[in-house]
Amino acid sequence: MKLLVAITGASGAHLGLEFIRYLPKEIEPFLIISDNAKKVFEKEYPSIDIFDTNDIAAAPASGSFRVDATAIIPCSMNTLAKIAVGISDNLVTRAALVAIKEQKKLLLAPREMPLSPISLEHMSKLANLGVIIAPPILAYYSQIKTLKDLEKFLIGKWYDALGIEHNLFKRWE
Ligand SMILES: Cc1cc2nc3c(=O)[nH]c(=O)nc-3n(C[C@H](O)[C@H](O)[C@H](O)COP(=O)(O)O)c2cc1C
Repeated sequence: MKLLVAITGASGAHLGLEFIRYLPKEIEPFLIISDNAKKVFEKEYPSIDIFDTNDIAAAPASGSFRVDATAIIPCSMNTLAKIAVGISDNLVTRAALVAIKEQKKLLLAPREMPLSPISLEHMSKLANLGVIIAPPILAYYSQIKTLKDLEKFLIGKWYDALGIEHNLFKRWE
């Protein structure tokens, strides 16, 4: 499975990085991130292909790159709004719109609180197009005791939504 992960300027970029860290070996990840996050990432994960969000000519800008799924974690309200109205002004928004036009899985993890009616309208519109709207929301079941447990729970829920096998949390029985 070819999985494209994008990290935008909302709080919680760390979650996007952790999302990649726990991926099983058989998943082939590609990453789009901002310039600053890129420097850190290149040192910590040298084996992953990273694209610059300003490089609008990079491979994920085309449907012929054929990613199976795209996840934007976290997804800012800015990026959410642009996707909802079809603006593709950088590689992240372009890749998201490619996922929609190619009818591939697209998961957005919007992070904002409280949510404005504008963002809720955008989420509703995208959800009706089949986009998975999966914000990082707290849970207190599944034996969650630490922040790390909570992160693993969230990442596991995102993997579930994308059909990626995992063992990151104890399932409800
Ligand atoms: C420290 C910091 C935290 C931010 N957190 C959020 C956030 O949680 N959610 C959000 O929608 N925007 C947040 N923003 C605002 C976005 O970074 C801003 O809207 C930016 O234009 C998003 O650009 P992008 O969508 O291209 O990444 C934050 C900005 C800063 C400086």
